[in-house]
Amino acid sequence: MSKLKSSENSSGASNRMEEIISLCKRRGFVYPGSEIYGGLGGVYDYGHYGAILKNNIRDSWQKSMIQDREDIYLLDSAIFMHPTAWVASGHVGNFDDPLVECKKCHNRMRADHILESFGISADKMPIDFINKELDKLREEKKLKCSNCGESDIAEAKKFSLMIKSNFGSPTEALCEENVVYLRPETCGGIYLQYKNTIDSLHPKLPFGIAQVGKAFRNEIAARQFIFRTREFEQMEMQYFINKKDTKEKYDMWKEVRMKWYLDNGISADKLTWYKHEKLAHYASEAYDVKYDFNCLGGFDEVEGIHARGDWDLSQHSKFSGVDLSYYDEESKERFTPHIVETSVGLNRLFLMFMDFAYTEDNLGGEKRVFLKLPKKLAPIKIAVFPLLRNKPLLVEKAKEVYDLLRKDYMCEFDDNGNIGKRYRRQDEIGTPYCVTVDFETIEKPARPDEDSGRSGGDNTVTVRDRDTGNQERIKIEELSEYFKKQF
Ligand code: GAP
Repeated sequence: MSKLKSSENSSGASNRMEEIISLCKRRGFVYPGSEIYGGLGGVYDYGHYGAILKNNIRDSWQKSMIQDREDIYLLDSAIFMHPTAWVASGHVGNFDDPLVECKKCHNRMRADHILESFGISADKMPIDFINKELDKLREEKKLKCSNCGESDIAEAKKFSLMIKSNFGSPTEALCEENVVYLRPETCGGIYLQYKNTIDSLHPKLPFGIAQVGKAFRNEIAARQFIFRTREFEQMEMQYFINKKDTKEKYDMWKEVRMKWYLDNGISADKLTWYKHEKLAHYASEAYDVKYDFNCLGGFDEVEGIHARGDWDLSQHSKFSGVDLSYYDEESKERFTPHIVETSVGLNRLFLMFMDFAYTEDNLGGEKRVFLKLPKKLAPIKIAVFPLLRNKPLLVEKAKEVYDLLRKDYMCEFDDNGNIGKRYRRQDEIGTPYCVTVDFETIEKPARPDEDSGRSGGDNTVTVRDRDTGNQERIKIEELSEYFKKQF
């Protein structure tokens, strides 16, 4: 994993990672996949709050691509595609990572990551180069297994990241005739539906097609929690352009995407651009957005912006025999559009937001952990409590408030335990506001000279702010207006 700088030392980072993993499990965000069977490496399930948070991140991305723009169309293509499509894209032949295995404990490691940890750039380098560099480390007795420390490490070999499945009878052996692949990236479906999009929606260049969906890679080292998993979700957008506009549109997308992170509350000092020097043979430019992960000890990739040229449409045209060129009515030219791609992992963004939001402070002399999630991403926007669960009038009024607010916001009703515990629980899931119905709400004001205008109480509730712990009293009938201003 390449690091630009480290914001915490490695034990600090691994502690933070442990704290995030523990909170995710304890509070119903992310669970290890198949845990009751001992787990399944690199596979995670999202619980109630995690699934809502993930959807909120997705919605923010989708809104910025679809609702806020007029030039992008949404697609939801199938995971399975014709197997020849992955031959055309080069994935069947070339989508692999260099694998090394410890001969003692059989721990599998990414050889390029080992070299990078010694400052040797190995991104997309041929296997011969990687083995020569590993030999040098071997001679210097620096090559060691990351698991058991043993130095007997086998030579590197190519390991395909494509996950195979098969169509047809489940009893048939997996053979080349019925093999299908679980897509390793979502953009493949976009290229295959480029023609139908043109024919049905008639967009003019430049235009984009965006989609969110599952992708699968047989990662060698699926570690670092949800940073690198074997099943994950991507949010990708392919922008079809005339070749002459590549620089302008590439720069535009860099700007648009960086703004998305800032608009979603990530501070500028936690983000940086990383320029790829070694490019895929079809690419003319590739930058990554890197975020400074506290839980990983430094900057790492969250998103790639790639200028892909006309590689994808040309290859699919060649392999399918279908003309995928575009006729530009203004210039009267026919050409194959070039593509600028934005590609981001939804689960990786989830980890980024968790890492950014995880905060420890002292409130009222008590240590607390809270998630300072941007309000619009928080899974629960408002929690509503009756002060005491055994006072029917309080419970009834709190339910009324809850029913009022849940029409517009994702709310939660909680009457379990004392108020302090309920605040802590909501802090840990990042709920921006807690509303409490107490005796002032339902009973006459204490001072007889104060006229509430109501016989049952002053109809106010306390609204507590997650970040400051400050509380204010708001009239129930003004709550909707109040929260409209907050969200
Ligand atoms: N279509 C281009 C493409 O897929 P990529 O750099 O391989 O490019 C793009 O992937 C993004 O997808 C990455 O920046 C990362 O956020 C996410 N991603 C890739 N592999 C992943 C994995 N194994 N687990 C989680 N996210 C992953």
